[in-house]
Amino acid sequence: MLIVLLGSAIAWADRGVPRQVSNIFAPVSVSGQRIAELSWFVIGICAIIFLITQGILLWCIIKFRARPDDDRRDPPQIYGSTPVEVAWTIVPLIIVTILFLATARTIAEVQIEEPPAEALVVDVIGHRWWWEFHYPEYGITTANELHIPTSTPEEKRPTFLRLLSQDVVHSFWVPRLGGKTDVVPNQENWLWFETSETGLYLGQCAEYCGTQHAHMLLRVYVETPEEFAAWVARQQKPAVVDARVAAGRETFQRTACINCHTLDGTVANGTYGPDLSHFMSRETLGAGVALNTAANVRAWIRDPQELKPGCRMPDMKLTEPEVDEIVDYLLTLQ
Ligand code: CUA
Repeated sequence: MLIVLLGSAIAWADRGVPRQVSNIFAPVSVSGQRIAELSWFVIGICAIIFLITQGILLWCIIKFRARPDDDRRDPPQIYGSTPVEVAWTIVPLIIVTILFLATARTIAEVQIEEPPAEALVVDVIGHRWWWEFHYPEYGITTANELHIPTSTPEEKRPTFLRLLSQDVVHSFWVPRLGGKTDVVPNQENWLWFETSETGLYLGQCAEYCGTQHAHMLLRVYVETPEEFAAWVARQQKPAVVDARVAAGRETFQRTACINCHTLDGTVANGTYGPDLSHFMSRETLGAGVALNTAANVRAWIRDPQELKPGCRMPDMKLTEPEVDEIVDYLLTLQ
């Protein structure tokens, strides 16, 4: 039980990123609710079995303990008992059948691989060690921070995620939204959730995928349909071109940054790293290792390996003035 609770809770305590705990027993989505109910049902049955078996054991230990006036000879040895054999075969069979049926029903309810017409479909691409989110309907791409609208009975808008991997097996898991699902190369997996509760829900890659697996964090922002539409509109705008940071823009385009990143309106069209067109619209950087503040952006550009050792972005060996220029430029990308 304790292990289950510990396993379901994820805590973060990184550079300025507030420590938060997530919990599968506090679901906010329809599928999460089903999974939590099933979990409690299974835990309940297991608890009853535990209490009965341990109770009998304890009772035997006390009732048949050694006493000073005991007859020290072995008691009569009995071999085989058809009623007992039948009982301990039938009873577990019934229990396993009940657990199987309950689980199968929940899987049937939760596993939908064909998005309905009103669904928001998002392509999720797992990379070592960050998440790419592409919204085909709106033609926008972002990273690590997924924005989705609420779904209410009046305004149905479930989110369907098409999970893909660029490299190795990852696993998409936001405990309060339910349904941990593996992200497998060369295979399309689907995961959906539907919630009417706005807020920020945290998650994490849940399949060991290498050095920075622990820093492959997920943030899901559930917004009202209006807030979500406003976010989409901002993401659809062309990247800001601010003449005051022309030097940084120039330096950015002159260096190898452009091979791995995409930035609208520049020559940068790489897809190995996150899209930077609206970099500062995100609250964190490096898939959640640090808050997206000027100081952290500078530390990241100076040497990403300091903040996220082993990550795929190398120290670009830029001069201090170059770092300052690029940071000034990035900070304008709202
Ligand atoms: Cu990706 Cu662990």
